Amino acid sequence: MSNPVSLYDMESMAKLRMDHTSWEYVAGGATDEITLRRNREAFGEIAINPRFLEELTPHELSTTVLGQKIDLPIMAAPTGAQFLAHPDAEVGVARGAGAVGTLTTVATGASHTVEEIARAASGPLWFQLYHLHDDVTEFMVKKAAAAGFSALCLTIDGVGGGPKERDARNNFNPGAERFWADLRERPDLLEKAKWDDRHSRRPTWEKLQWFKSLSSMPLIAKGILTPRDAEKCADRGVDAIVVSNHGARVIDTTLASIEALPAIAEAVGDRVEIYLDSGVRRGTDVLKALALGARAVLVGRPIMWGLAIDGAAGVQTMFEILKGELESVMNFTGVSSIHDIDPSMVTLNWR
Ligand SMILES: Cc1cc2nc3c(=O)[nH]c(=O)nc-3n(C[C@H](O)[C@H](O)[C@H](O)COP(=O)(O)O)c2cc1C
Repeated sequence: MSNPVSLYDMESMAKLRMDHTSWEYVAGGATDEITLRRNREAFGEIAINPRFLEELTPHELSTTVLGQKIDLPIMAAPTGAQFLAHPDAEVGVARGAGAVGTLTTVATGASHTVEEIARAASGPLWFQLYHLHDDVTEFMVKKAAAAGFSALCLTIDGVGGGPKERDARNNFNPGAERFWADLRERPDLLEKAKWDDRHSRRPTWEKLQWFKSLSSMPLIAKGILTPRDAEKCADRGVDAIVVSNHGARVIDTTLASIEALPAIAEAVGDRVEIYLDSGVRRGTDVLKALALGARAVLVGRPIMWGLAIDGAAGVQTMFEILKGELESVMNFTGVSSIHDIDPSMVTLNWR
């Protein structure tokens, strides 16, 4: 197959190109992978309510996220170990996302420095943070801010991989030396960032202000699944949240992100910007997420598929396919602008 029509085509192509262990690392979810399947099934259970006979004008897909314009409401989620898919890794993703006018979130411990990625990027960049050690966090956040990154995206739902049994079975170990390009000159900090220490160094509610104080970047909390946590974020001055179950990689049997979204949007939709990831594969999924209160969505695994197939060009193709699908469903359902997509466009079976 040389001409992918859907993201699923890209998934099949990427699987052929990646070695088995790396493929399993990307594809896998926590334990029984019930939430992994649920992330897809839940989108399928939402029905679309079309609006026929509407006058259509050229499509408006652009929006802003934390004040920055993006040309489509679909962004790159942070995914670690991108070098497993392509040596260009984060640089390739930033180029591919920039080519379609959207934003890239760069994962902690990337294999390219934040400066290298910033030089390659033509779209906005967010820096994703796993908090491992105060000194490492301070160094990395300041470095990213100085390189021109525009927001700090703190992942709150667990550091790194959860109980992914495929990785345990494969003895998956990508080699620590391939991560943390930014710490190559700082072996002292590299030592402090050691994976083994992770569990004793969790971020807490009390620490949010400290994260904010490290730079002037707005703070995003990634991994919100409940109105409770969303409200606590809003109360503590967090600027935006990502409703996410980490692509089902951390806790099995949580709600799908799209199932969690409506109650969260109801609780905090007027106080913080809301984005969603986990399981977005189709233009219809984007429409459904926007209808239920997300301002934009992020994709994780599809970034890796695009990279594996053709580096930056593959990432660009992946975004273009999703964008084309979004335009198509907007066309058929009678909406010209993503800003006209509202809850009346969907029916939920579970509420
Ligand atoms: C290979 C891989 C690595 C990931 N690494 C990170 C990471 O370093 N930090 C993070 O916050 N999320 C990470 N995630 C989760 C993604 O940011 C995102 O939440 C998830 O992939 C969305 O689900 P999707 O893959 O179904 O689109 C990773 C996901 C994958 C697939």
